[in-house]
Amino acid sequence: MIDQATIQKIFDAADIYDVVSEFVSLKKRGANYIGLCPFHNEKTGSFTVSPAKGIYKCFGCGKGGNAVSFIMEHEQMSYVEALRFLAAKYHITIEEKEMTEEQRREQTERESMLIVTGYANEYYQYQLWHTDEGRSVGLGYLRQRGISDEMIRKFGLGYNPEEWGAFTKAAVAKGYKKEFLVKTGLTIENERGAFDRFRARVIFPVHDLAGKVIAFGGRTMTADKKVAKYLNSPESEIYHKSKTLYGVYLAKKSIIQHDRCILVEGYTDVISFHAKGVENVVASSGTSLTIEQIRLIHRLTPNVTIIYDGDAAGIKASLRGIDLVLEEGLNVRVLLLPDGEDPDSFARAHSPQELADYIAANETDFINFKTKLLLGAAGDDPVERARLITDIVRSISKIPDEITRSVYVRETSRMLEVEEKVLYTEIAKIRLKGDEQAARPGARPSAPDPAPVAREVTPCDLEEMAIVRYLLLFGTEPLYEEEANGYARMVTVGEFIVRELAADDLEMQNPLCRTIQTEYQRRYESPDFDPARYFGTHPDIRVSTLAANMLSEPYELSKIWYKMDNLVETEQMKLAELLPKVVDNYKMRRVEMLSAEIDNQILESQQKKEDAERLMGLLRRKNVLNKIRARLNERLRRTGVR
Ligand code: CTP
Ligand code: MN
Repeated sequence: MIDQATIQKIFDAADIYDVVSEFVSLKKRGANYIGLCPFHNEKTGSFTVSPAKGIYKCFGCGKGGNAVSFIMEHEQMSYVEALRFLAAKYHITIEEKEMTEEQRREQTERESMLIVTGYANEYYQYQLWHTDEGRSVGLGYLRQRGISDEMIRKFGLGYNPEEWGAFTKAAVAKGYKKEFLVKTGLTIENERGAFDRFRARVIFPVHDLAGKVIAFGGRTMTADKKVAKYLNSPESEIYHKSKTLYGVYLAKKSIIQHDRCILVEGYTDVISFHAKGVENVVASSGTSLTIEQIRLIHRLTPNVTIIYDGDAAGIKASLRGIDLVLEEGLNVRVLLLPDGEDPDSFARAHSPQELADYIAANETDFINFKTKLLLGAAGDDPVERARLITDIVRSISKIPDEITRSVYVRETSRMLEVEEKVLYTEIAKIRLKGDEQAARPGARPSAPDPAPVAREVTPCDLEEMAIVRYLLLFGTEPLYEEEANGYARMVTVGEFIVRELAADDLEMQNPLCRTIQTEYQRRYESPDFDPARYFGTHPDIRVSTLAANMLSEPYELSKIWYKMDNLVETEQMKLAELLPKVVDNYKMRRVEMLSAEIDNQILESQQKKEDAERLMGLLRRKNVLNKIRARLNERLRRTGVR
């Protein structure tokens, strides 16, 4: 929906130093900047930003890219979200040409609703901190529960007074339209008038992944069992309960750093964990876990620890959660708390160190969890044991990855003393049935891959990447002089590659490499073409990420060491010698691939006893390829690459 010209404008405006330094503190180091990597835990900086190339790269964890991919990775946004984020930062107006009237209406409606929830969030907090009722009832309650002022502020907790329609009145007086107060569910309208959903309740704002307030939960102040303990915002255009995890905005950074997400049940569980320094924690807010919530976690990490209450309901909830999480390809551990404790009470009763230690010592993988739990109940009863085995096998069969499955099979086999073969047979049966179900129309489509794929695997990926690397790093370097129409002119590295590939009609196989090849070919003759800049900020994020990664390779890699005379020659100095080999090497690979294909066809043709003419044709082609191969081989041998 964003047009190409605007995308280019955003890429041009988004200065990498400017963008990154908003999130990472950077120190100047030569031409570059260096800082602590926001994507993994480190004590010394290996995170480098190169303003000249417009890219960042961490030499610790390998993450790298341009300004847009940095925002995608750091803020966990989609490509389009990141573009919008940067457009807003640089005051670039996005032309929404292709939006329909309907889409425009929806978007402004969403925006209006978010403005209302934003205001409500301020209002509730003001009430809590600055009014008599808020301070004595709301703040008093939270403090008495042991929630520190720091946490109250961090989570933006608030209070809505008891007075009939206090919030609604204030909002309308401020000019907010009643329509949106009702659509967000903060105001309820009926024949008796308009009044607040939350009255005399402590308010927990719910944020989306980007930190916008999309809903609220309100806890009653009375112990009256007839009053609902929590009231929550209703479903709306901005709030889908099944897609939301409480605390995800505040947990995001910690989840990425620890590469693990802890899942608890409620608002207060999350807050008490934060108070004890455990920040990679989110809550499913009382509902059973949904697929969308699991996918939200998966965007941040594949590792989940489920912590539920030690009572029967908690155990049941964890068991239900496990299979769903396994099915989505995540790794699950489970932690049961001592009976009678919930995460909130447990965290409050222990020190940060004790909490961390308890989690580390007691989280178990799901096989252990289920086995211990069910084995206790089954005892020696063979029927019960068989049921237990079936149960565990069913869970294992949900795991999409074969290697992970086999690890669990081994463990189950050991723990339950059943042969692996038996388990595999059972799993195969279940999976077969699952496949049939999935193939039926109306079945849930598989999850789209959220991460951009940097490499598609083709048999000549490596060789093509090597050539693309030369295009990006050295494309505009002069290679040799040639004479044309009586004038001497320089042939650049890029031109040489383009010509060599064109001469043999070679189009690269990897789609990303092919994009680079085609666009390079189209542009290399224009005098201000800068391949590093052009591809490093390419609007196809897969292309620009690939380019950024190649451009940020450690310098050492492109040095060739001559130990004998202690001379360091750089790759750049030896281009004329190295480049033809790299190109020949690629050609060789392609010839090999083609030969293999023809061999197959020959074999097929012989088996089918097809007409002799076709076979002859194939053999002739094979012969030509053999000659090319021999020639290339000779050249490569002479120049010493193979
Ligand atoms: N919940 C809800 N509506 C209710 C009860 C619970 O939406 N009537 C959700 C809330 O998100 C709550 C979570 O389920 O945080 C877990 O419920 P519970 O353990 O009862 O609440 P706590 O968070 O422990 O709240 P408190 O400690 O104040 O009792
Ligand atoms: Mn509780």
